[in-house]
Amino acid sequence: MNKDVRILAIETSCDETSMAVVKNGKTVEALTISTQMKTHANFGGVVPEIASRMHTESITLVLEETLNKFPGSIDDIDAIAVTYAPGLLGSLLVGVECAKTLSLVYNKPLIAVNHTMGHIYANNIEHQITYPTLALIVSGGHTDLLVLKSETDMEILGSTIDDSVGEVFDKVARVLKMSYPGGPNIEKAALKGEDTYKLPSPMQDDTYNFSFSGLKSFVINLVHNETVKGNEIRVNDLAHSFQKTAIDELTRKVELALKNTGIKNMILAGGVSANQTLREEINKVCQKYNVTFHVPNILYCTDNAAMIGCAAYPLYKSQKFADFTLNAKSNENIKSYIENNK
Ligand code: KG4
Ligand code: ZN
Repeated sequence: MNKDVRILAIETSCDETSMAVVKNGKTVEALTISTQMKTHANFGGVVPEIASRMHTESITLVLEETLNKFPGSIDDIDAIAVTYAPGLLGSLLVGVECAKTLSLVYNKPLIAVNHTMGHIYANNIEHQITYPTLALIVSGGHTDLLVLKSETDMEILGSTIDDSVGEVFDKVARVLKMSYPGGPNIEKAALKGEDTYKLPSPMQDDTYNFSFSGLKSFVINLVHNETVKGNEIRVNDLAHSFQKTAIDELTRKVELALKNTGIKNMILAGGVSANQTLREEINKVCQKYNVTFHVPNILYCTDNAAMIGCAAYPLYKSQKFADFTLNAKSNENIKSYIENNK
């Protein structure tokens, strides 16, 4: 394939309405992210009904803005890509219907992208994924450790057996009365605090699985018990100890995997990979094992359509197009995605 390939990508799986034009799975030529964060912050988390209604209201505006930013025209677009899974059903449907309409009206092939694959491929924007690579996916919905053997072949080493790490950051932030989304606020507070709270280590085993619900419950109970007793909570210290405990666990499992597999490339993906301490700790382990480590720019760590345009490119190259029966799948996690695409 000699010609440049430009993909118009759409992402509406949660509370960001985003569109992008991405050239050859790498170069972001236009990107718009319209976030609903402020609205949902009033409720302490994403309200699915409100999210889908806001996507409906903003999607045509986001399309217009993206095409205005794009130096070319719709005629220069080779395909329309959309996140069809996983996420909030009503939100996903807005993106999927928009993509189908554009595909039909402009006669462009349609590409269905799994959101988690998008997070992984965000690593191609500033760097290039080198195979095989170990990938740690840490987002609001997922915590997975994978080996990417090639663009089309991957294996899950382990996943969370309960809550995702992002979910736990958000729940702990909530009990500490921080606004939604909690992750960045925990990070800010942790920088001002010290590790003075003794918290239980999530999982003392040697599998590649994760468990964060025990840590979450411990912190929530601790805050409630101290509040009932009228004791002061040292918020910054508790945020610091919590973040350290969660990151130590992620880092420990990454180290185990690097040691056991001998893989020499490592990437991070997903919203929690915006966390500077996590980035630094994983980088340290990679240096110890002489492993090349990459993580996307913070802009591309949280939800955006550019990453969807990147993940759509290998599907375009192998002509894996969707038809108009494409539907949203709210719960297709990476494990079922791999199974479905064998
Ligand atoms: O990938 P993402 O934008 O959405 C999902 O696909 O889930 O991830 C959102 C998650 C939220 O839980 C948010 O609190 C967390 O990523 N997050 C962070 C940081 N920035 C976002 N967690 C810790 N530190 C951060 N700086
Ligand atoms: Zn995401």
